[in-house]
Amino acid sequence: MLGDVTPSLADAARRAARRTGTPLLLTDLPRLAADAAAVRAAFPDPWLRLYALKANGLPALTARLPALGFGATAVSAGELALAARAGFPPGQVALEGIGKGEAELRAVVRAARMGSPLLWTSLESAEEAAALARVAERAGVRCDVLVRVNPEVAPETHRGLAVGAVASKFGIPAEELPAVVEAGGGPDGPLRWRGIHLHVGSQLGAVDAWRSAFRLGLRLLALRRAGLPDFDTLDAGSGFPVAYGEPGSVPPLSAFAAVAAEELAGIAPDARPRRLAIEPGRAVVAASGWLVGRVLHVRERDPRLVVIDAGMTELIRPALYGAEHPIVALTSRGAPVPEGGGGEQVRTRVDGPVCESTDRLGEALLPPLVRGDLVAIGVAGAYGTAMASTYNGRPRPPEVGWDGSGLHLLRARGRRSALP
Ligand SMILES: Cc1ncc(COP(=O)(O)O)c(C=O)c1O
Repeated sequence: MLGDVTPSLADAARRAARRTGTPLLLTDLPRLAADAAAVRAAFPDPWLRLYALKANGLPALTARLPALGFGATAVSAGELALAARAGFPPGQVALEGIGKGEAELRAVVRAARMGSPLLWTSLESAEEAAALARVAERAGVRCDVLVRVNPEVAPETHRGLAVGAVASKFGIPAEELPAVVEAGGGPDGPLRWRGIHLHVGSQLGAVDAWRSAFRLGLRLLALRRAGLPDFDTLDAGSGFPVAYGEPGSVPPLSAFAAVAAEELAGIAPDARPRRLAIEPGRAVVAASGWLVGRVLHVRERDPRLVVIDAGMTELIRPALYGAEHPIVALTSRGAPVPEGGGGEQVRTRVDGPVCESTDRLGEALLPPLVRGDLVAIGVAGAYGTAMASTYNGRPRPPEVGWDGSGLHLLRARGRRSALP
């Protein structure tokens, strides 16, 4: 094994690079299915598993998820369209996100009017509740809604991912819940109040903040149920981390499931929510994705500096918030890297080709490299190409799926003629 790259995956990546050129994003499809199955095993039915499309919305990939037991969450009319293209039934798709404009509200109401309502819409404020109520009333439909509550916890994660902290722009403070219901037309208006939506933050390093938020959600549901007859749902969001570096360094999915079970066991059965949901993104798609680039320059410094043709335009996480990803060499001096590493391993900084000094992918011990050698950045399947940009006139990279033997083009390289 070269890190997590098995020899056959490394061979597939080299073949893909020959076929499409670099940079490219390779998805290990059996790994994707295994990771989805692991989420389902930790949170089996009747948990609703709503895949967060923002992590990677590519329909050729996400189309595999409904059959693996997933609905989806979308954060825009665009992501609702991606969910439809991927084949998620509308009744298994939730709309959330702080950026809902008129297009999003109209999409919610249109789905209800056509007899295929969304699972629910998660509301972020009293204004948004009033706006959706107005559109729904005009159309003569009722829409299921959750209210996104800011749990005001101290998430054990990077500052940039800690959306459940008190200063965050996401969700309302719990005490504003009655005002949101009022603004949305009250208990019997055009909005059917179904429950609470939480998201502590992503890539949690411990389960304590998640526990506090889950407990708060249960308490709020129990408190408000008397006045809201359908208030029966707790969507606990995500937070489920993946191992970007050393395996075992993050809590497993089972630790979060155990927290939920413990908290539910602590309350009377008739006070428990009738529906429970999670919204994993990276836990489903991150580990199966590999960003493959070719070496452009080697500078013998300390540490050695290598510039490759993949960078922040394809994977912005390291530049955006210092995220670390595993990096491996697929070829060394033009030849496939043998199992065990191939040649003397030297600490190497790997930078991207973009005209920004923050365009760094990370550091790793790598064998001798020359221009043209192939390097792969692992755990790149979430928030990689989903956040890709065409900065510096760089088209979106091609995406290739590997099914364990063959390669499939999931999306062609973006066209230069379509650049801004
Ligand atoms: C509300 C909400 N749910 C789910 C997710 C998915 O998070 P992750 O990809 O870490 O599982 C996010 C990520 O930003 C989010 O904001």
